[in-house]
Amino acid sequence: MRYLIYFCILTLLIACTNSTTKTYHDPSLSAAERAAILLSQMTLEEKVGQMCQYVGTASLENPQGTVNPDERVKYEMGLGQRAELIRKGHIGSFLKVPSYKEANYLQELAQESRLKIPLLIATDAIHGHGMYVPPATIFPTPIGMAASFNPEIAETIARYTAVEMRASGYQWTFSPNVEVVRDARWGRFGESFGEDPLLVGTMGAAMVRGYQGTADADSLFVLACAKHFVGGGIAYNGLNGAPADISERTLHEIFFPPFIRCIDEGVYSIMPAHNQVNGVPCHAHKEFLTGLIRESWNFEGFFISDWMDIERLYEVNRVVNNHKEAAEVAVNVGLDMHMHGPEFHEHVIALVNEGRISEERIDEAVEKILTAKFRLGLFENPFIDTSRVAEVLLQPTHRAYALESARKSMVLLKNDGILPLKKQGRILVTGPLADHQGILGDWSRPLPDSLVTTVLEGMRSVEGAALRIDYLPTGEIELLGDEVMARAGVAAAGVDVVVAVVGENAIRFSEFKTSGENLDRPTLELAGRQLEFLQALHRSGTPLVVVYVNGGPVASPWTQENAAAILEAWEPGMAGGQAVAEVLFGDINPGGRMPATVPRSAGHIQQFYNYNPSAYHRGKYKFEDSTPLYPFGFGLSYTSFSYGKLECQDTASLSDDLFLRFQVTNTGDRAGDEVVLVFLNDVISSVATPVKELVAFRRVHLEAGESRILEFTINNKDFAFLDSSLRQVKEPGEFQLIIGLDRMKHTLFLQ
Ligand code: GLC
Repeated sequence: MRYLIYFCILTLLIACTNSTTKTYHDPSLSAAERAAILLSQMTLEEKVGQMCQYVGTASLENPQGTVNPDERVKYEMGLGQRAELIRKGHIGSFLKVPSYKEANYLQELAQESRLKIPLLIATDAIHGHGMYVPPATIFPTPIGMAASFNPEIAETIARYTAVEMRASGYQWTFSPNVEVVRDARWGRFGESFGEDPLLVGTMGAAMVRGYQGTADADSLFVLACAKHFVGGGIAYNGLNGAPADISERTLHEIFFPPFIRCIDEGVYSIMPAHNQVNGVPCHAHKEFLTGLIRESWNFEGFFISDWMDIERLYEVNRVVNNHKEAAEVAVNVGLDMHMHGPEFHEHVIALVNEGRISEERIDEAVEKILTAKFRLGLFENPFIDTSRVAEVLLQPTHRAYALESARKSMVLLKNDGILPLKKQGRILVTGPLADHQGILGDWSRPLPDSLVTTVLEGMRSVEGAALRIDYLPTGEIELLGDEVMARAGVAAAGVDVVVAVVGENAIRFSEFKTSGENLDRPTLELAGRQLEFLQALHRSGTPLVVVYVNGGPVASPWTQENAAAILEAWEPGMAGGQAVAEVLFGDINPGGRMPATVPRSAGHIQQFYNYNPSAYHRGKYKFEDSTPLYPFGFGLSYTSFSYGKLECQDTASLSDDLFLRFQVTNTGDRAGDEVVLVFLNDVISSVATPVKELVAFRRVHLEAGESRILEFTINNKDFAFLDSSLRQVKEPGEFQLIIGLDRMKHTLFLQ
């Protein structure tokens, strides 16, 4: 008996020892182990608290400093009550936190809670920490990153953004947006990487790597978020949040792959889209969130709802009877965290108590959220050193890269020989975007003028004894009126060249915003009276150089026809004006390429390069050519390139990768970048397959006269397509490799 007692005491001691050493504070344990231990100590209220995201004070006040009545009415909460909820452990995350001081304050409140679980402070840092106050480095928007066709640019921008985020107390960005866009009317085009699944997925995965670090690391530098799953880029009429009808085939072939790429890169949060797909709201889509993403694609992270989209299951989609049912449906299909505000917490507690949500589902959600916090190192230190914020944000390396990435993003669309401009004579700079912070793009607050180089400032920096820059201000796009029109002709007549900067203004909080989130376009033509203004300038007879500043493509056939040159600058960020000037004067040779097809007008939508062979075989338009204004991959250079003979097997196995090589030569008199594109076409297939699909791309820099042999390996998975039952198949037969925009073709037989 005595030995039995000794044995029990010993067992108890071992058990206690294990439990005391196995605390969630033990950094030697994995993040998942620590999360499981912590979870076991939490009450239901504390667990559900981790699933709740609230907004910080930025949401209550717009930049004009007035309180937003809608938010105040909706939450009827002063900060005090929110502070109390944090102390009770009923909040797990915040967004729209306007300053590092508030971020630290919120974390202090969390340390007063029973378990001291740190908060996730989130923001929309998609091309720099743009929603942050005071300012941070603002890079080109994602569409410009895509136009560079260089994933390293996306990765570096993400890394620099993450550095500025962590230094200022933010650990989660709702980026990258990896939606493929097939409707250029969508105001959020500038946030996307364009129309091609490979380009979008490659750039998105690069940003995930830049934000989070490598997929195999247990730690996370900044938590990334692949969004929005799925179909916002093909919603009805290009309207943000409108329904999308997408075939299963198109979903699997076009819209899903970029998300799979990000999941394979270890992205640890995903945001469902506002819209419905085929009648089912994405926030209520069990097959998408649980069936596909979690179970088929092995997503290990957690889902965050988009802004009030759980409530919109009732308020907009009308698929439930009230907010409580909305919470029930959303959590049960897989949503793990709610953006944002009260009600959700009380509904979920009640639903669990009523057995309508299982506590296992809650545990699954909370364990992932806690794992993210452990991986971010927040339990070791949730605070920032406020004395370092000023030295980290806007640091010279980052600002230099804002210029470098802007240079790489630009696409030369037309040049009758007027470019590069001579640094002599008189140049008139004009247009609504000439001296405007619209070059920052959406998801960026306005910056202090001293931090932004506008196009006018970039041009003026080149002024000298031989060169004079005149400026004709036009005011905002929607204010461009008769008075300026009348002056256009005179102002243009007296100079050697006119540089007109036109396009869109997507900068956040601007009252003159014409594009960006929730501002879509019924046309792809220049907004307002900008085209009329260009025509007035053109009537002077002075050569017209047009610079587009825009997120979504501009389709202006008259401008293409009549301008001497057109430079697509996208939204080039805080140094964008300098980059534009450097390209126009030839200090930089533009090497960007179009990441999306630009139709001749909105009437041609949907128009994309990887179309089905029957798409244009009969139908025509009476008064318009049905070819694109600018095709996917298009872009000019100040030099020229030639391609040598393509070396590749004429016959190969469907189960083996394909190797090809060819030489590219810079045949011009100056250095330049060439974007080499490799497309594949399955000539005959039992299901209609696209006329071509991008399977590889690479941007190369070549000095004048330099030649280089490029080698590509085409993965054999690229030979596959979905058969009529949506099963992946490979079929023997004739294939065609297409290099560039029909520079070279090579027929081969795979079996
Ligand atoms: C918006 C956007 C989403 C963003 C979120 C938080 O509704 O759809 O992209 O991350 O709200 O700002």
